[in-house]
Order: sequence, then C-alpha cells, then structure tokens
Amino acid sequence: MKIIVVDDYEQMSDKSAELLGNAVKSDPNATLGLATGSTPLGTYARLVEACACGEISFAAVRTCNLDEYVGLNADNVNSYAHYMRENLFDKIDINIDNTHLPNGAAQDLDAECARYTELLESIPQDIQLLGLGSDGHIGFNEPYSPFDGHTHVVTLAESTVKDNSRLFSHIDEVPRKAITMGIADIMRARKILILASGANKAQAVYDMIKGEINEACPASVLQRHPDVTVVLDKSAAALL
Ligand code: F6R
Repeated sequence: MKIIVVDDYEQMSDKSAELLGNAVKSDPNATLGLATGSTPLGTYARLVEACACGEISFAAVRTCNLDEYVGLNADNVNSYAHYMRENLFDKIDINIDNTHLPNGAAQDLDAECARYTELLESIPQDIQLLGLGSDGHIGFNEPYSPFDGHTHVVTLAESTVKDNSRLFSHIDEVPRKAITMGIADIMRARKILILASGANKAQAVYDMIKGEINEACPASVLQRHPDVTVVLDKSAAALL
C-alpha cells in the first residue's frame, strides 16, 4: 500500500483529483469506479473545474458506482444516482449512457445484482475510488461481508445508518438496505484509491492498514491488492 498523509480535507481532495485526473489523461477510455458520500465531494469539485478549463475530458470515460440505496429511484434527491448527477455527471462532458449505478428501485433485486455483476465483469474498473466507513466498510460491505462476494443486497449497520442520517431530514428516512458491489468486484479493479478524512475514521484506517486481514474489517482486504494508494488527512492518520 502506498500511504500519503496530507494536512487536511482540501489537500486530500487535491491529491485524489490529481490521481484520478492522471488516470483519465493517460487513458481517455478509462473505466472509473466511483463512490458517493462526503469524502469524494472535494475530489469531484476539482474534476469539474479541470473539465471546465479543458484540462481533462470525460467524453470517452465509463463509470460504475459502488452502491445505491434500495427503494430509491434515480430521481429521489437522496439516491446516489441523483448525487452523482448533481456533483459530477451533469457538470462534465461525460456521456450519461456510459455511467452506471445499481438500480435500487428494481423490482427483482436478485436479477439486478446479477446484471450489475455481469456489467462489472464486462467493463473492469481501471481505478476504483473508495471512501472508508467508520466501521471499516468499503462500498456497503459491512463487517463480516465475505471477501469473495459479488454485487448483493445488504442490510446497513446501525452505525452506518446513523453516519448517513446527516444527509436526510430524519434518521427514519434512511433506507436500511442497499445494493453494493461485492468485495471481489472491488478487488478486481486494476488500481484502488481510498480516501479518509477526520478523526472518526482513525480507528478504521488503523485496522485497514495495520490490522489483521479479516472480515471484521472489510477494508483490511486491501492489504492483498497489488496497487492501492491511501490518501489520508492528519486526523484520519492519527493512530498509524
Ligand atoms: C459510498 C460508499 C461508502 C462511503 C463510506 C464513507 O458510495 O460506498 O463506503 O464511502 O460510507 O462515507 P463518507 O464519505 O460519507 O464518510
């Protein structure tokens, strides 16, 4: 693992946008695996700026997102499909048909999981961007998710529901289930870029990098990947 520690969230976002931007510059047809949540917002803002000033083009880029809440359709403001359009896709020159997320509103969720797994096999991620859950989750693979899992429906841990409730008007509105890429789908990416910022991530960062590799900390599996870059701010790196 290559570990980069910077001062704060802004510097973390600068570094992350630089690394993702370089992936697109070196391969304009790249497939990017993308994440939602608070952590990548600064990264996306910088990529939007780089595209606006003609430094990067996403015209031939394909993307696949990690996850989506079950029961929210793409127009729901709390859906990850909406988040991606609002924070990135509507502001860059990407072809929206080349952007993919699991469909959380699918009637047949098993069929949707199988469809997404097949899609990921057909367009493997050149680089997968990840945030880190305070309980060590990646995607929505909560503790004790199998390392060999593909896209599946998960019940979110109570701590994740609580962490994510800040984006909803009431905690009861947070969906309790999500569709997520499995750990095996994530590990297939050629490169992985994982970001963490803030003191509430420090224990999970420690367990990911220095802990035993086991399913109690899903992110610890990344120790087995040959090309992982971890970008941390000082608070997230405090226990290393
Ligand atoms: C988001 C995702 C999650 C988040 C994680 C951290 O698509 O898969 O694993 O990356 O929950 O969330 P934030 O960035 O909001 O702290």
